[in-house]
Amino acid sequence: MAQQPPRYRVSDEARNILDTGLRNKWYGICSADRVLDAPLAIRRWNRDLVLWRDTEGNVYLQDDRCPHRGAPLSLARHDGDRLTCVYHGAEILGDGTVASLPGEPGCDLVGQCAVETYPVEVHRGVIFAWLGDGLGTEVAPLALPERLTSDSYDAFLAYAEWRTPYRYMIDNNMDPMHGAFLHRVSHSMAEGASEAEFTTRKTETGFIFEKKGQKNVNFDWSEWYDVDFQAVCLEIPYPKSGGPGGSFGIVFHITPIDETTSACFFWRHRKVSGWERDTWRFLYKNRLEGRHWHVLEQDRLVAERMVQDADRREYLYGHDVGVARVRKLMADEAERQAEALRKSAVAAE
Ligand code: FES
Ligand SMILES: [Fe+2]
Repeated sequence: MAQQPPRYRVSDEARNILDTGLRNKWYGICSADRVLDAPLAIRRWNRDLVLWRDTEGNVYLQDDRCPHRGAPLSLARHDGDRLTCVYHGAEILGDGTVASLPGEPGCDLVGQCAVETYPVEVHRGVIFAWLGDGLGTEVAPLALPERLTSDSYDAFLAYAEWRTPYRYMIDNNMDPMHGAFLHRVSHSMAEGASEAEFTTRKTETGFIFEKKGQKNVNFDWSEWYDVDFQAVCLEIPYPKSGGPGGSFGIVFHITPIDETTSACFFWRHRKVSGWERDTWRFLYKNRLEGRHWHVLEQDRLVAERMVQDADRREYLYGHDVGVARVRKLMADEAERQAEALRKSAVAAE
C-alpha cells in the first residue's frame, strides 16, 4: 500500500485565513506597468483595494474606501501626492493619512491615519505587497527566490487570473506526477516513467519533493519555498531544439483574489548569459511562449473545473505527499494566526 499523507482539520477562523491568504506574507499584486496616472481598482485577499502612484513614481496600495463614508478611492481624483475623494473631497496621502476634509476643516479625522495602507515593493516590474496580521507584526524584508533576483537567471513573467481557489494551483505545482499524465503529449514532458516513488528533502527555505531514481528527465521535482514569500520552484528539461541553457525553470507564486479566483504568477526562467541569453530570449518570444501557454491551458482547465469540495473528499496516495505537506504547513500557520487573533480580541475586551 502506498504511503498515505496525513489529513488535517482547521478551525473556521483558520479556514477564513487560509481562504483569503495567510497573513504576514508578501504577495505578488500585478505588473507595475498597469499602474498609470489614474488610481486602479484591484481585488486581492478578498479585499477591494486601490493601487496608485504619486508624481514621484512611488506606488501605494490601500483599501478602496474613503474613511468619510466609504466611497471608492479608485474613483478619486489623482492630485500628485494624494487622492481626492470625488464624493466630498477628502484628501488621502500615500501613507493613509487624511490630509484635509474641505467640508469640515476642524474635523478630528484630519491628521489621522485612517486608510489601511499595505507596504509595497516593486521588483523587476512586479508590485509586491505585504499582508499583515493587524497585530503590529513587523514587516519582513521581501526575500524572493534566487532565481528571481540573481543576474545569472533570465526570466519572463506569465501572468494569469484563473477561476480557481489558489490552493488548488499550489497543489498543482507541488505535484510533479501530473506532468507525465496531463502534459504527456506536450513538448518536453513525454519522457520518463509514469510510475515513481518520491522522497522529501529539507532545505533552508522549505523542502524539495522529488522522484527517487529519475532526475532531469521530466518534471521530476518541486521545491516549496517560504521565506515570508511563498513560491514553488521546479524545472523541466529541454530538448536540444529548446536552445542553450539547460533546464527550463518555473517559479510559481499565487495570490488569492477572493475565495474562488486567483492571480497566478509564473516566472519562466533559464540560467543563461551572453549570447545564450539572447538566444533564449529570442526563442522564448518566437517559439516557446506559445507552447508554454498551451501547457498552462491544460492546467487551467483542470483547476477551474475542480469540484468545490475536491480537497475535502479525496484519496491521497504516495505521489501526493508534497501536496499534503504544504497543506499541513499552511494549515498550522493559519491556526497559529487565528489563535493570535483570538488572544488579541480577548485581551482587548
Ligand atoms: S465619502 Fe469620501 S469624502 Fe465623503
Ligand atoms: Fe501543469
